[in-house]
Amino acid sequence: MVDLSTKYMGLNLPNPLIVASCSLTKTLDSVRTCADAGVGAIVLKSLFEEQIEVEVKDIEEYLLPYWHPEAFDYVREMGMELGPSEYLKLVEEAKTSVSIPIIASLNCITPKWWIEYAKQIVDAGADGLELNIFIMPVDLQKTGNKIENTYYKILEEVKANIDIPIAVKIGPYFTSIAQVVNELSRRGASAVVLFNRFYQPNIDIEKLELAPGYHFSSPEEMGLSLRWIALLSGRVNCDLAASTGIHDGAGVIKQLLAGASVTQLCSTLYLNGLKQIGNILKEVEEWMKKHGYKSVDEIRAKLSQSESDRPELYERIQYIKSLVGVE
Ligand SMILES: Cc1cc2nc3c(=O)[nH]c(=O)nc-3n(C[C@H](O)[C@H](O)[C@H](O)COP(=O)(O)O)c2cc1C
Repeated sequence: MVDLSTKYMGLNLPNPLIVASCSLTKTLDSVRTCADAGVGAIVLKSLFEEQIEVEVKDIEEYLLPYWHPEAFDYVREMGMELGPSEYLKLVEEAKTSVSIPIIASLNCITPKWWIEYAKQIVDAGADGLELNIFIMPVDLQKTGNKIENTYYKILEEVKANIDIPIAVKIGPYFTSIAQVVNELSRRGASAVVLFNRFYQPNIDIEKLELAPGYHFSSPEEMGLSLRWIALLSGRVNCDLAASTGIHDGAGVIKQLLAGASVTQLCSTLYLNGLKQIGNILKEVEEWMKKHGYKSVDEIRAKLSQSESDRPELYERIQYIKSLVGVE
């Protein structure tokens, strides 16, 4: 028997697979289906502040520069069907319907709503809260440092007002990812999710207009989070959750070996259905048996930079013939 159970943000999970925040976790039925499929925890679809009505004036003056790509996608494609009260009801019902941890997810714009919704989410019974923060760095005058401080301020303000564990989900677009993750950890994040994958627009060259981009990741995209988890594991004082490009059991095993506490799955579940959760768990179990491992803790971070006797290899960014066979 292998033991797949693990801890994430101080919560006990039966296994390290989490359904990432997406439309597969936006109704009670879908939450139950994910739990029945055997996943270890669920991050609910984000509640976006844009889901409450805002004055047109506010949109023009305040929101547009920061319009969240996923929110844009969400509002355009699905309408504003899931308002705050429905969201809180979802948290409450999900908690009583399934036994695995339920992590709510929040994306706001104004400080007031980050705090207000976070408190309401706690009252609704969520086990943890993921802050889905993305500030589009489009302001020609705004420095990276100023933007990073906004991330820290959001975390600190929410943290000061709630007492459930908080994860911060970030994208990869920072000058110094290591420092940002360390600061988030220092300022109270129980976990950092590396990385969100933002909606990418496309251009229709026949109609000469913006076209919808492809929603889903490919397994090749996993390299980015794999690198940063391997580099940061054991060096920051919070859990690391891997997200983007994890499509199969091998992907999960690699992320655990790099040092991830858990792996978040999204695209593979859209592409292969929720049965993929069972397939992945089986693949991980068989690999562990084959290699003589009895628990997830035994393999976690075995191949992180901190555990390596050749740490310099993790920092290679050029093609080196001896490593990759091409130069
Ligand atoms: C249709 C769709 C909706 C998503 N909605 C959200 C969301 O509401 N909040 C969030 O934090 N991430 C959202 N994401 C991002 C996913 O949670 C995940 O981080 C990303 O898709 C990368 O993982 P993957 O490679 O397994 O797809 C969404 C992704 C997709 C494809």
